[in-house]
Amino acid sequence: MTPDLSVKIGNVSFKNPIFVASGTFGYGLETKELTDPSALGAVVTKSITRHPREGNPSPRIVETPSGMINSIGLANMGVDAYINDVAPRIDEIGTAVITNIAGFSIDDYLYVMGRVEKSGAPICGYEINISCPNVEAGKMEFAVDPELTGRLTEALRKMTSKLLIVKLSPNVTDIVSIARAAKEGGADAVSAVNTVFGMSIDVSTREPHVHTNVGGLSGPAVRPVGVACVYKISRELNIPIIGIGGITSAKDAVEYMLAGASAVQVGTASFRHPDIGRSIIGELEQFLASNEIEDLSEITGGVIAND
Ligand SMILES: Cc1cc2nc3c(=O)[nH]c(=O)nc-3n(C[C@H](O)[C@H](O)[C@H](O)COP(=O)(O)O)c2cc1C
Repeated sequence: MTPDLSVKIGNVSFKNPIFVASGTFGYGLETKELTDPSALGAVVTKSITRHPREGNPSPRIVETPSGMINSIGLANMGVDAYINDVAPRIDEIGTAVITNIAGFSIDDYLYVMGRVEKSGAPICGYEINISCPNVEAGKMEFAVDPELTGRLTEALRKMTSKLLIVKLSPNVTDIVSIARAAKEGGADAVSAVNTVFGMSIDVSTREPHVHTNVGGLSGPAVRPVGVACVYKISRELNIPIIGIGGITSAKDAVEYMLAGASAVQVGTASFRHPDIGRSIIGELEQFLASNEIEDLSEITGGVIAND
């Protein structure tokens, strides 16, 4: 029997739980020569902002042990181009599309969501990148403050009935309190995690490898951080969780699911193998069949943890 890979998050049914992560798969249209995006459970777009952004000066990526550091700085086409150039072609992607939004004030996020909602773009929902400095709060990141996260989520919830996912940062003292604020603000799900602070220095020149000195670490190096964040949230809160960080195989995806994830996103691994999402889907099917698991709900939250 073919195992059922479909998963429901909020009101949305996805054909499988393997999504691709924001910032690692463009807007979903660019990768068609390298892979068939229609096989994926969903494509999450690069973060879209109110205005187009060039991002940070280069160098802005460096390879590190089992991962990479990036300081892209939210380079993106801006919401106007997204609506005019990408939205009319979304159906070509052939699977669910989740638009990721970033902003530097609550108004920024509301503006972008308002524009996308009004455009009627055929997306299934939004992922909110809250790892952004709020210029109205001394550049404190939304992601580090439950009150700000709650207020932002509540305001966005009023604007859409589509799936609303809040993407959490691991660079916080208590990720559960931020997840709780997102849930109470009306989020349908949380995704965890965004990149982990990282720095790498060239010891001969004494210069940091990325222009911004400190950047965001991703790849297998961060997987245990992501799994622990998912586990902590799932133990405390009843909200669907999408696991992210260092996934390169079905085994990694299952690890996140055992910790409590309903679905996962693959990021950095797509840079090495753009087709890896599809391979993981095939591997996951085999894993379920050989373990006689009929349904993913038998795995989610299934870790046998110690008291
Ligand atoms: C080059 C690069 C760009 C990224 N850009 C974004 C972004 O625009 N918005 C966002 O929410 N996350 C962004 N991320 C974070 C990823 O979506 C993901 O949360 C993180 O990389 C951990 O997953 P991974 O280890 O599978 O890459 C980016 C990551 C990388 C490596």
